[in-house]
Amino acid sequence: MDIISGQGLFFLFCFITSCFLIFSTTRSRRGSLQATATPPGPPRLPIIGNIHLVGKNPHRSFADLSKTYGPIMSLKFGSLNTVVVTSPEAAREVLRTQDQILSSRSPTNSIRSINHHEVSIVWLPSSPRWRLLRKLSVSHLFSPQRIEATKALRMNKVKELVNFMSESSRREEAVDISCASFITMLNIISNILFSVDLGSYASKISNGFQDTVISVMEAVGKPDAANYFPFLGFLDLQGNRKTMNVCSERLFRVFRGIIEAKIAENALRNNPKDISDSDFLDVLLDLSKGDETELSIDDIKHLLLDMFTAGTDTSSGTVEWAMAELLKNPKTMAKAQAEIDHVIGPNGIIEESDISKLPYLQAVVKETFRLHPAAPLLIPRKAESDVEVLGFMVPKDTQVLVNVWAIGRDPNVWENPNRFEPERFLGKEIDVKGRDYELTPFGAGRRICPGLPLAVKIVPLMLASLLYYFDWKLPNGVVSEDLDMDETFGITLHKTNPLHAVPVKKHALH
Ligand code: HEM
Repeated sequence: MDIISGQGLFFLFCFITSCFLIFSTTRSRRGSLQATATPPGPPRLPIIGNIHLVGKNPHRSFADLSKTYGPIMSLKFGSLNTVVVTSPEAAREVLRTQDQILSSRSPTNSIRSINHHEVSIVWLPSSPRWRLLRKLSVSHLFSPQRIEATKALRMNKVKELVNFMSESSRREEAVDISCASFITMLNIISNILFSVDLGSYASKISNGFQDTVISVMEAVGKPDAANYFPFLGFLDLQGNRKTMNVCSERLFRVFRGIIEAKIAENALRNNPKDISDSDFLDVLLDLSKGDETELSIDDIKHLLLDMFTAGTDTSSGTVEWAMAELLKNPKTMAKAQAEIDHVIGPNGIIEESDISKLPYLQAVVKETFRLHPAAPLLIPRKAESDVEVLGFMVPKDTQVLVNVWAIGRDPNVWENPNRFEPERFLGKEIDVKGRDYELTPFGAGRRICPGLPLAVKIVPLMLASLLYYFDWKLPNGVVSEDLDMDETFGITLHKTNPLHAVPVKKHALH
């Protein structure tokens, strides 16, 4: 009896101590928050909250609402609390000051439908598993040494793009700029990842790949009732789960084939591959060997899916928007071409190292990122605990969106915000690398796009090559003033009608 009561007393003591600790840590966390008011926002309807206020282009709806409710506002979509920030100061608070607490993610219904949120570098919360995947990607794909080692590959793929354009120019044919730059980007990424060309300018298969990647982005980003009422997930009212399942399976099938071929090829090899000959998949497969593996084949497939979806369409879409803006603004195009001609000369070849000598071209790229950020709301973040932002309380589990599209067009930040004027960046230090919160197309902080070092090489190189080797005409008598700039929102922002233009050969490629 004595023993039982002794044990009982001991458990009672533990229970009271735990309660005290939990109570005091919760109090001290709450206590450290001065703010109690949540950010202002529009009135909510019963059950749906503010869903009715968001149209097909949420970045535009949020931009309009923020004119009334300010740079930080609360919205409620069904059961999902959302905070949208729309000023450089507020973006800085989210992406820098409170970056640690706001580095989690809010996976969408379609992402959950293929369990991608359990393994994905994009959708995992900030966690040891996510850190491992980031470390792997940064050291084997995006480190300065790896970027340098894959320079020749990028040059070759851009040369293939120029050759394709030259053929179209000979036939005086209009080219689908989005499709052609997508194939270039697809082949650059597929070669960096597993030394294979996935795209071909001559075949429709690459278009299939592009459509699949775009469908994945749309299934992730399009409004979905189940994101706001999770119990509706199984009904798949918007069909996003189905699209995601079909499209991801299409990509996984391609990856499975490549993985199996590589495993078979490595099995036949007598000596291990030299590290300088290894591609990313070689490294991943090495890590997947042995009993205590860090990665399974399934993890590898999901990582490849992330790299393709995050890397291809974002970069090629930026090239397309830049070309569309330049065709709409012929004087700006002429100025960019004159700069390149002056630096490269009449019979030159454009190399990545030339880009630093082309400040106007760099300004054109920045201006494109300002007006057409590939991910207009970044990728949704989530608060891991209650946190204070700009003096307001953002409760735990709130989804936090940074409207970089609206910040890029804010008249308080930019003069003539809707005009395409690269000159605004000349002589200014402002850059896209996550330190200037008025221009963060790649995000900032812990979750900043790890592909940034690759994207800032390839986008200007592709654009400079298109502008150096060719003059450009719009097809069928379309005049530049009439060129449409309509956008379609997925999680990325597309030109609704793909840009077609006719290349006219200017310099030969040697
Ligand atoms: C113009 C090109 C690109 C743009 C504008 C872009 C933009 C972005 C943005 C806005 C994010 C989210 C950042 C945040 O949450 O704060 C992101 C994340 C990511 N991007 Fe990019 N990206 C581009 C190219 C690439 C490339 C080429 C790759 C890889 C090949 C890539 C891989 C990723 C990955 C893996 C993530 C998720 C990182 C994480 O959640 O930890 N991106 N990107």
